[in-house]
Amino acid sequence: MSPRISIREVSKVYKSGDKTVHALERVSFDVDEGSFVSIVGPSGCGKSTLLKITSGLLPFTSGAVTIGGQPVSGPVENVGMVFPVPRAAQVEDRYGQHHAAR
Ligand SMILES: Nc1ncnc2c1ncn2[C@@H]1O[C@H](COP(=O)(O)OP(=O)(O)OP(=O)(O)O)[C@@H](O)[C@H]1O
Ligand SMILES: [Mg+2]
Repeated sequence: MSPRISIREVSKVYKSGDKTVHALERVSFDVDEGSFVSIVGPSGCGKSTLLKITSGLLPFTSGAVTIGGQPVSGPVENVGMVFPVPRAAQVEDRYGQHHAAR
């Protein structure tokens, strides 16, 4: 059986001005139909970048992503994503710390 999700040699380089961040370097893995997968790693290791790429919300620099055999080249309709703290709902306290608005 072919995998439901296939991530092949995916790299992502963020460029803003003269700053370059290699967020993902040649990441590959498969996710089978019906499986439950957790991606775990330290802050900044690229988890969100990978999820945004897989759901088609963020273009990748190189590699290939397919869902159900179809290449991901734009937002994927049947994928949902929940962000831990929505940026738009954050408030800043008097020390400059950000918190979720309640
Ligand atoms: N829009 C962006 N522009 C430039 N660099 C970015 C951008 N988004 C993420 N990065 C950088 O890419 C790297 C991976 O970030 P990412 O948000 O994917 O990590 P993460 O594993 O989800 O972290 P966390 O656990 O804190 O959510 C980090 O170095 C981050 O600073
Ligand atoms: Mg994240």
